[in-house]
Amino acid sequence: MLIEYIVGLSGLIAAGLFIYGLKAMSSPVTAVTGIMTAGYGMVIVIAAAFLNLFHVSPSAQPHLTVNITLAVIALVLGCVWAGRAGRKVQMTAMPQMVALFNGMGGGSAAALAADSLLANHPASGLHLSITIIGALIGSISLTGSVIAWAKLDGRINKPLRFTGQRIFNGLIFLAALVLGGLAVMNYGTPAGILPIILFFAAALVFGVCMTLPIGGADMPVVISLYNAFTGLAVGLEGYVTDDPALMIAGMVVGSAGTLLTVLMAKAMNRSLTNVLFSNFGDASGSSKGPEGEMKSVEPGDAATSMKYSSSVIIVPGYGLAVAQAQQKLFEFVKILMADGIDVKFAMHPVAGRMPGHMNVLLAEAGVPYDMIYDMDDINENFASTDVALIIGANDVVNPEALTDKSSPIYGMPILNAYKAHQVFVIKRGAGTGYSGVQNPLFFQENTTMVYGDAQGVLSKMVEAVKALGNA
Ligand code: TAP
Repeated sequence: MLIEYIVGLSGLIAAGLFIYGLKAMSSPVTAVTGIMTAGYGMVIVIAAAFLNLFHVSPSAQPHLTVNITLAVIALVLGCVWAGRAGRKVQMTAMPQMVALFNGMGGGSAAALAADSLLANHPASGLHLSITIIGALIGSISLTGSVIAWAKLDGRINKPLRFTGQRIFNGLIFLAALVLGGLAVMNYGTPAGILPIILFFAAALVFGVCMTLPIGGADMPVVISLYNAFTGLAVGLEGYVTDDPALMIAGMVVGSAGTLLTVLMAKAMNRSLTNVLFSNFGDASGSSKGPEGEMKSVEPGDAATSMKYSSSVIIVPGYGLAVAQAQQKLFEFVKILMADGIDVKFAMHPVAGRMPGHMNVLLAEAGVPYDMIYDMDDINENFASTDVALIIGANDVVNPEALTDKSSPIYGMPILNAYKAHQVFVIKRGAGTGYSGVQNPLFFQENTTMVYGDAQGVLSKMVEAVKALGNA
C-alpha cells in the first residue's frame, strides 16, 4: 500500500518537474536549470519503476531477478553511452543526436507494446487497440529517426525517390493497418502471433520508406515530428500499462514536439505536407537567380569600416555554426563595443538548422542576452543602422521572400538586413542556402561580400581592428 502510494506520488512530482523544466527551457537564461529539473524528474520516475517491481508479489513475477538484472544492465549501458555521447557531441551534430535519442524512445514504446501483445497483457479491446496504435507510431518513429540520423550525419547523401513512391508507401501503411487489425481479431490465439510479427515489420519498413524521400535539409522538422510521434506512442503505452508517469511524460513530449513542428513549419512559411512531400532545396545551386555582380573586399577593409561606424547589427546563420566561429565573433564584437559602437545581434527563428541554434551558439561564446534581439524587435532598426554584418546566413536575409511569389521561400519572414546603409556578408563563395535559391541581397549596391570561412575571416577582422588601436 505504502509503495503504491509512493509510486503514484512520484509520478505526480515527476510530471510537475517535467512541466516546470519545459517552461524553463523556453529562455536561454533558465534553459540549463530546465534541463536539470526535467532530468531529476526522470530519475524519480526510474526509481519509482524499480520500486514498483517490489510492489507486485514475487509469485506473480517468476522472472523478477532476471528482469531486474536486465533492467540494471540496460540502465548502465544507456547512461554510459548517453553520457559519453552528450559530452562529446559537437554543436553542429546536435540534431543527429536528438534524432537517435528520439528513435530510442519510439523503439522503447514499440518494444513495450510488443512485450504486452506477446504476453497477452491487454485486458480489454480498448487496451488492445491502443497498444497496437502505440506500437505503430513508436515503430515508425524508431526507423524514421534512424534514417533521419543517417541523413543528417551524411551517411545517406541523397533522397531516394522513384515513380509511384507515394502509392508504394501508402500500400505499406495500409498493410500495417490490416495486419494490426488481424492481430486484434486473432489476439490471444496461436494464429495471432504471425500478424503481430508482420505488423511490426510493416510499421518499421514504413518508417524507413516515409523518411527516405525527404531531403536531408528538412530533417530537423521531420525529427521534431518524430519527437511528437514518440511522445504519443509513449503516452499511449503508459495508458495501457497503467503508468501515470509514462503517460504524462509521453504527453508532454508529444505536445511539445507537435508545437515545435508547427512553429518551425510556420516560421519557414511551409505546411507540414510541403515538408513531407515536396522536394524542397533540391534546386541547390541550379537556380539561375539574380543577374549582376557581387562586389567583395578583404576582411581587414570590412573590419576597418565597421570600426569607424556607430552602429552594427550582426545576423548569424548556419555558416557561423559550421565554422564554429562564435568565440572569434564575440572577440571582434567586444573590440567594437570598447570603441563605443552600438552592436546588436538579430535572431531569426529558423536561422541555423534547429530551433534556438543561434541562441545556443552565442550563449556558448558568452554573448549577453540583452544584446540579442528577436526578429520582430529589431527589424525596424536596420534602416537606421550603419552596418549589417551577415555571417553564414543566407535564406533568413533573402528579400526574395518578400517580393517573388514564385520563390520557394516566398512568405517566409526575413531579417531586413538589406535596409542597412552598408551590408557585409561573410561566406565562403557563391553557395546557396538551405532553400537552394540565390540571394539578390548579395548583388545589391550597398552589399559587399567578404569571402572565406567565417572563422578565418573573423580572425583577420580581429587582427585588423587590433592593429588600428582604440578609435
Ligand atoms: P542557410 O540559408 O542555410 O545559409 C547558410 C550559408 O552559410 C550558406 O549560404 C553558406 O554559403 C554559408 N556557409 C556555410 N559554411 C560556412 C562557413 N564555414 N563559413 C562561412 N559561411 C558558411 O542558413 P540560414 O540563413 O541560417 O537559414 C536557415 C535555413 O534553414 C532556412 O532556410 C530555414 O528555413 C532552414 N531550416 C531551419 C531550421 C531551424 S529550426 N533552424 C529547420 C529546418 C530548416 P557558402 O557555401 O557560400 O559558404
